[in-house]
Amino acid sequence: MKTNFTEQTGIAYPIIMAPMFLVSNEAMMQSAIRTGIMGVFPTLNYRKEGELDALIKRLHQFKSENQGSFGVNLIVQKTNPLYNRHLKICVENKVPFYITSLGSPREVIEAAHSYSAKVYCDVTNIGHAEKCAKLGCDGFIAVGQGAGGHAGPYAQTVLIPTLRKHFPSIPVIAAGGIATGDGIAAMIALGATGVSIGTRYIASTEAEVSDEYKNSILNSGMDNIVMTERLSGTPCNIINTPYAKKNWL
Ligand SMILES: Cc1cc2nc3c(=O)[nH]c(=O)nc-3n(C[C@H](O)[C@H](O)[C@H](O)COP(=O)(O)O)c2cc1C
Repeated sequence: MKTNFTEQTGIAYPIIMAPMFLVSNEAMMQSAIRTGIMGVFPTLNYRKEGELDALIKRLHQFKSENQGSFGVNLIVQKTNPLYNRHLKICVENKVPFYITSLGSPREVIEAAHSYSAKVYCDVTNIGHAEKCAKLGCDGFIAVGQGAGGHAGPYAQTVLIPTLRKHFPSIPVIAAGGIATGDGIAAMIALGATGVSIGTRYIASTEAEVSDEYKNSILNSGMDNIVMTERLSGTPCNIINTPYAKKNWL
């Protein structure tokens, strides 16, 4: 299945296994690479000395034998104390794909483009997309309503066509509430070049989270999801569990 995203990255299917703090792991990345999609993990999941460097080297080896690829998610904010160190390790190891979240992606774009890696920026509105476009990003991750974790304010039916209209030459990946082939087809029909899927993969065999967590992903529907700003200060979609009710709702 060819789109400009698969052509830019050399992968078989226009799907990103989305970066998830404390969830994304090496087995999930290997599975993504083996299947022909793009596995992306937050560098913050690898905080011990030498861990990130060694993992990237192993993933490069795995990528060379398979049809998918991998990338990293960098929180490009001064509040991330490991940002500079992690960016250096990623650039030294020539990570092929980046997703930036929060602050300015300027340094990541400059560093990644020095060796032809691609940088996609998380955006939830036109203002931030404008800044990323000016800095020369290769694509947008359009984080819309319904995304697991931090979500955007706009429905994909509005956000994707608006981004396409304002920035016709920049590919848009849809993120938020996508878990099926129907969902992927709908996003492509709206003008997306691919999709980024997070929550669904939490229930995968490879994810090293508790069975309770996996079962609650499988057994929850839209009426079990609630949005709160009390977790991190920005709107965040979570499962409405007794723990969530007590602490954040
Ligand atoms: C448990 C969890 C952790 C997440 N952690 C991160 C993260 O560290 N960095 C990031 O950019 N996005 C993070 N996200 C957002 C995902 O990358 C992605 O945008 C989102 O999962 C897409 O929506 P979906 O979960 O409905 O598929 C996280 C999402 C979840 C569910």
